[in-house]
Amino acid sequence: MLSRRETILTSLKAMTGVAVTASSPLGTLLTSPGRAQGREQADGVPYGAAVRDAPLAGEPDYRAALVRHCRQLVGEGGLKWYDLRPSRERFVYDLPDKQIDFASRNGMTLRGHTLVWYGAMPDWTKSIASASEAEREMVGHIETVMGRYRGRIKSWDVINEPIPDDPANRSDIRPSIWQQRMGESHIALALRTAARADPHAQLVMNEYDIEFVGPRFRRKREAFLRLIRDLKMRNVPLHAIGLQGHLRGELPIDREGLSAFIAECRSMGLKVLVTELDVVDDKLPGPPEVRDILAASRVYDFLDAIRVSSPLDALLTWGISDRYTWVPLYFKRTDGHLNRPLPLDSDYRPKPMMRVIEHFLRDRR
Ligand code: XIL
Repeated sequence: MLSRRETILTSLKAMTGVAVTASSPLGTLLTSPGRAQGREQADGVPYGAAVRDAPLAGEPDYRAALVRHCRQLVGEGGLKWYDLRPSRERFVYDLPDKQIDFASRNGMTLRGHTLVWYGAMPDWTKSIASASEAEREMVGHIETVMGRYRGRIKSWDVINEPIPDDPANRSDIRPSIWQQRMGESHIALALRTAARADPHAQLVMNEYDIEFVGPRFRRKREAFLRLIRDLKMRNVPLHAIGLQGHLRGELPIDREGLSAFIAECRSMGLKVLVTELDVVDDKLPGPPEVRDILAASRVYDFLDAIRVSSPLDALLTWGISDRYTWVPLYFKRTDGHLNRPLPLDSDYRPKPMMRVIEHFLRDRR
């Protein structure tokens, strides 16, 4: 008779080709029933999650899960231009104020997401017509918003997703109103403005699709590294790299490529954060037990490759429970099964992914 553990690992191999031996650290992590531990490890890597406002306001189980597991939070929305700036004149702080209030009442901090991004821009920003107008708007926004939360939001995604999905050249920057009006110089300007607005804040540049095997992802990694090197060489204030970590269940991690990328970031004195981890599972097999293990093994490969140089500085998932996730907006499964991208299931029970995450949180920093 096969043990439960062997049964899981055998069907995993059959359905996906991924071979994990039961006695390996990963095999044990994935298949032992153990309970999740929660956030008590104060000296390990701080874990956090992106929060959504409706359940934060209305659902006690959701709040309890956050308090049990997280040492920091980030708003899924709230600090995006779309939410903050319904018109050129108005700044609306209701959502981030609620998030920060909940975080600080429960002994957590809030990360700031995000100041300069092509996405979630309100329509009125399309009328920004010249380089000088763009500079005025971007600089004013960063000063106002970071100024308001100075000393309270200690880590900011100043730059989000600067590299195109398939850069033809290493010097390609993703189009945005800022790129179109000011060119690449908007990135250094944003970081310098941020450093003045809150000299103690950690300034982060965030990107996705850095970690997979394949030429497109190698090109994206190289273009991101080109930009990072350029900023560091010119002494632009940049303190950390954020890997969003929206892993794709069907894509293997380029462990060597990722480790080399991280080592180079570290050698430039940068900290490394995982800012939006989840596993997009629309292309994984249906049975939840197999799917959860495959997702967790991707997370293992990803985190293990990153920490080769040194432990992570923070790890956040993009949501905490499968109940509230952005994944089905873009990657809904076609077989009627719900997506399961996050560390807790939709009833807030820890999945194998949570055990894998907690394993890496134990790294001493
Ligand atoms: C997503 C949110 O989760 C959704 O609720 C929203 O509708 C769109 O944005 N990369 C990012 C995040 O940096 O801001 C995105 O968040 C997910 C991808």
